[in-house]
Amino acid sequence: MIPPVDPAAEYAALRGEIDAAVAEVLASGQFVGGPHVAAFEAELAAFLEVDHVVSVANGTDALEIALAACGVAAGDVVAVPAFTFAATVEAVVRAGATPLLIDIAEDDFAIDVRALTAALRTGNAVRAVLPVHLYGHPADMQALLALRDELGFALIEDAAQAHGARCQIDGAQRRIGGLGDAACFSFYPTKNLGAAGDAGAITTGSAEIARTARLIANHGDISKYEHALADGRNSRLDALQAAILRIKLRRLDEWNEARRRIAATYALGLADANLRLPRERAGAESVFHQFTVRLADRDRVQRELRERGIAAGIHYPRAIHQQPGFARFAAPGASYPIAEQAAAEVLCLPMYPLMKPEDTQAVITALRDIVGTR
Ligand SMILES: Cc1ncc(COP(=O)(O)O)c(C=O)c1O
Repeated sequence: MIPPVDPAAEYAALRGEIDAAVAEVLASGQFVGGPHVAAFEAELAAFLEVDHVVSVANGTDALEIALAACGVAAGDVVAVPAFTFAATVEAVVRAGATPLLIDIAEDDFAIDVRALTAALRTGNAVRAVLPVHLYGHPADMQALLALRDELGFALIEDAAQAHGARCQIDGAQRRIGGLGDAACFSFYPTKNLGAAGDAGAITTGSAEIARTARLIANHGDISKYEHALADGRNSRLDALQAAILRIKLRRLDEWNEARRRIAATYALGLADANLRLPRERAGAESVFHQFTVRLADRDRVQRELRERGIAAGIHYPRAIHQQPGFARFAAPGASYPIAEQAAAEVLCLPMYPLMKPEDTQAVITALRDIVGTR
């Protein structure tokens, strides 16, 4: 079977280094926080070209804590895309705010800035906007930053799938992570930078947001057993995860390049196949967390690929308002046709940096055969 992702291959490639780091941490007796956590935060900050990194226990906590650190509280409204992983919207609800669902753009699966602008100009006041860089492709940050500067909301990015992605801001290539007020990363094992368990981080250019986030994530503790907050929590990074993430961070550029090469091979091999290929906006550099094609008869194609030993994923089979838990957030009379179409059509082909070239070719051959060519 060609798997959709292969985190075990990453461990196999780095086994000597990871085993040594794990043994060192176990022998040190320092399991939460400590030198590996501090070093990982500094190294990730350098990689992402951002001033502050606050490590937390997972990407969902990163979102929830970043929202609170940016001042989002009960009664606030936060705009979110209608097509994303549930955690994006869940975090808004857990922060006590109300999500305002906005349809996605046809070409990049990210929040549609025109639809967002229209919603904000017709009386919706939002405390924050939470774009998602879905599948590793940056949302239209140039347009979102301009809108933020005009309307004054907090711009908090869900970068859980976009470690290392770049986009053009005022003509310069910039990494996702240091653009909005704060960005939230997940290091779930299958992510572009994946831990051996759950882990996450908040990045920000603001010392104040970083300080508040760190306070919230560690019981509001300002010095040993002096607590400045009553509603702090425990969301910290384990030393074992930090040690492993440091090793993998050194490969991230190389492995993102490998993903981009696989994406280029897919795009070339499937150029005349009866499906829609993903596109990159001019100036944007996706890190292809997923390579997502669109097909009218997606479920049949997924089934037939599986019969040929190829596991393709569906991320995600429902738009947010089509989820039982979130249906109540659909605005009365609003529709989200692009999000619904994406949920019906997306198919994510196997994509991981250590994918064998013959496996990429096998996926192309099978898919061309199943869907036919023009
Ligand atoms: C877009 C998006 N947001 C948020 C999350 C939540 O991250 P975590 O699983 O680390 O809590 C994920 C990943 O699972 C994600 O893909």
